[in-house]
Order: sequence, then C-alpha cells, then structure tokens
Amino acid sequence: MLVASNRGPVSYTVGSDGELSSRRGGGGLVSGLSAIGPDTDAVWVCAALGDGDREAVRRADGGLLPAEDTGGQRVRMLDIDAEVYADAYNGIANSALWFVHHMMYQTPLEPVFDAEFRRQWDAYRAYNQAFAQALAEEAAPGAAVLIQDYHLALAPRMLRKLRPDLRIGHFSHTPWAPPDYFRLLPDDIAAELLTGILGADRAAFLTRRWADAFTDCCHAVLGPGIPSGTEIGVHGLGADAEFLRERAHRADVDERMAVLREQIGEGRRSIVRVDRTELSKNIVRGLLAYRRLLEDHPEWRARVVHVAFAYPSRQDLALYRSYMDEVRRVAEEINSEYGTEGWTPVLLHLDDDFARSLAAYRLADVALVNPIRDGMNLVAKEVPVVSDEGVALVLSREAGAYEELSEHAITVNPYDVVGTAEALHEALTLPDPARAERSKHLSDAATALPPTKWFLDQLNALRG
Ligand code: G6P
Repeated sequence: MLVASNRGPVSYTVGSDGELSSRRGGGGLVSGLSAIGPDTDAVWVCAALGDGDREAVRRADGGLLPAEDTGGQRVRMLDIDAEVYADAYNGIANSALWFVHHMMYQTPLEPVFDAEFRRQWDAYRAYNQAFAQALAEEAAPGAAVLIQDYHLALAPRMLRKLRPDLRIGHFSHTPWAPPDYFRLLPDDIAAELLTGILGADRAAFLTRRWADAFTDCCHAVLGPGIPSGTEIGVHGLGADAEFLRERAHRADVDERMAVLREQIGEGRRSIVRVDRTELSKNIVRGLLAYRRLLEDHPEWRARVVHVAFAYPSRQDLALYRSYMDEVRRVAEEINSEYGTEGWTPVLLHLDDDFARSLAAYRLADVALVNPIRDGMNLVAKEVPVVSDEGVALVLSREAGAYEELSEHAITVNPYDVVGTAEALHEALTLPDPARAERSKHLSDAATALPPTKWFLDQLNALRG
C-alpha cells in the first residue's frame, strides 16, 4: 500500500552546525495519515518542502528517510526541482486551487489566469507527474495507492496510465467549490483537474457537502453523460482521542498551563483559538467579534481574555505574510484600546508550540472556530476531547465539522461579526453544568471517527 501527499509526516531544517533537525508536519492531513502507523508495510511518498528536506533526501541517498525521524513510518521524500516545486505548491496549489475551493477571491484579490498562471500550471503538471512516476516505480502489482489533496489532483489519471493494475484512491482534505465558483478556473484547466481525479477508482471527501459539490462540478464542466467508473466516498475525520489525552497530560503541558493561567489572571474566563495563520481561518474577524463583545457587553471587560495562537503558515506567499501582520495589528489595537494595568485583553502567540496549544485546549472556557470555509477543522474536535472542565464551542457553519458537531455547538455565520460577538457572549454565559454537558456530547461526536478508522475504511472500500 502506498500513500502520497505533498506534506509528509516530518520536515527538516539544517542548523548552523550543519546538523539536521526534524519536526512533525502540521495540518489535518498529517494528523489523519499518522494513523497509518509504523506497523504496516505502507510507504508514504511526499515532497521535499525546502532546503532542509532536500538535504535529508541527499543523505538518505534518494531512498527511505531514517525510521527514527518518522516514528517508524516508511517515508520516501521526492526532491522535485525547486522552481517547479515553488510554482506548483505556491503558485497553483496554494494560490489558485486553495482560493477556489475556499471561495476566497474577493476584491482586491481577484483571480488572474494569465500566461504566468499557464506557466505555473505546467509546473503543477510536472510535479504531479513526478509523484505518478515515483508511485509507479514503488508499487507492487495490484497495490492500493491513496493520493491526497488538491496538490495532487492530476496524479491519479497519470498513475492510471502508467500502472493500470493499481487500485487508486484520491482524498480531498479541503472543501470542494460549487460549480458556479469552480468555473472561475479556465475551462480546460477545470476539466483537467476533474478528469485527473476521475482517473482514480474512488474519490473521497470529508463531508457529503464537498462530495456533492464535486459531482455537481463534474456534471457542469464535463457534461452529464461522462463515463466514469469512479466511486464517490465520504469519510469524516475525527480526533485521535487516545493520542491527545496522553500527550495533553505530560509535564511540559502542565508547565505551560501554569504559565497561561498566570497570564490570563485569576477568575477570568478564556476564549481560545488555535490555527495556522491562514486567511480561510478568519482570525481577523474573530478578533473584531471579540472587540465587539467588549464594546456591546462591557460587563466582560477585565473578566475575559482572548487567547489566540496563530502559527506561521505558507510564509512564502506575500498575502499570508500581510495577513499575519494584520492579525498582529488588530490584536494590538484591541489591547491598547481596552487594556488596563492588570488586564491584557488579547494574548496572541505567533510561534508554533504544540504543548502550549494542548494547555490552552485544556483550560479553555470557550473555543472559537470561525473559518470562512474549512474541509473539516480538527481543532473544533480536539478541544472538547482534552478539555478539563468542559468547553463551549463557537463554530462556523462553513466548517466540515459543523455536520457532526452543530447540535451541541453555538453556530455562526463566519462573515457576521456582530452575530459572532453575540455567540461569544452566549458561550461565556452558559452555566457550568450546561457547558460541561454540551462539551461531553461534542467530545463523543468528535471521537466517533478516529483516524485509524478513517484510514482503514478508505483502504477497505478501495480494495472492495
Ligand atoms: C490543509 C491541507 C493540507 C496541508 C495543510 C497544511 O490541511 O489540506 O494538505 O498539508 O493544510 O498546509 P501546508 O501548506 O503547510 O502543508
């Protein structure tokens, strides 16, 4: 069995002493795929993301990465030409495709599909071809191959051409855009993306809503009579309760809880959010809603702290860098507007620290998860699972997790700042027993589909 994704379970940096250090990859895809575990004979094929990874590939002599770096998982990293990689990953996948699927184009960020875009599209093809080639070389006769996400939409068809004997699956970790939006893309490219995925035996999604949008796009772009043997599947991904609960009770997390408690201050409530600093996560509107809360409900002043962890992501893209600046600016504005001697209204951290995230999960009174669109959003599921005393969840109706959690969450339209402020007020005023009760239900729903089940269900369905 083979798994293919852009980001692998580990990435490397080279220190000034020339030593390589490794760290676990972030995002929902890596969390889900970690369920493959070291016990199987699966090989995970991924791309080298930067100079550290390229150096690791050279040292691995083009073969498998050292098992001690990957938690025992067999990982083959592809050293794709750096320029091809940048055009495919930053240019096509993270700009055009990410923006289409998350419906994020808004003035002044308008879609421009010009000659430069076509050049990047060639790189995206080459990048997909490199994966197809590596998978074709690696796969045993009749093997199952699980190809992941929007980076690799063309690879299923390419691989099918090289190896018709394989069972090929494709899984989308993002939302899928409805046809009217998807068709922003040039017609030939929209068709190439869809037929690329239809090269798989199975195309799967995190929710029914995204799966239906994909089918609607196929009809709209390719016509209703398209012959395709591709089966459409839906596999929701839940939180890994066992891993999280064990990890959240180690000493480093306890230490960070003590620090956070001190920073929040005795007797105050906390509204926690943890995200990659990603435009689709809607962090700025979350801050504006918090400001609105302090404005409209002055009784919360000095009685609540917004703990916002916004970790660096895709910093090669200027838009992401300026978004990070905006997050910082708005947080500072709120602090100077409302802060007092003993109270800092927003506690913002921009450096990634998993143990500190878990500490915040454990002590959160309210969790704010308000993406404008999100394939699933695992934070919404992870917080109730590790919460010490129960958490109230304010959840966007545009997150995939909404389908499973809406009943026990306080749900919001992510564009509605005033509505989100009111939802925060409602969440903060929930009586303790009601909050604990809801949190228990959320935790049950969040763990109904553990990553191992998510993974094995796909594999079994593919093998038929
Ligand atoms: C989303 C995508 C994943 C991606 C993750 C992190 O969850 O669906 O494919 O790995 O974001 O983004 P990055 O660009 O850092 O890999």
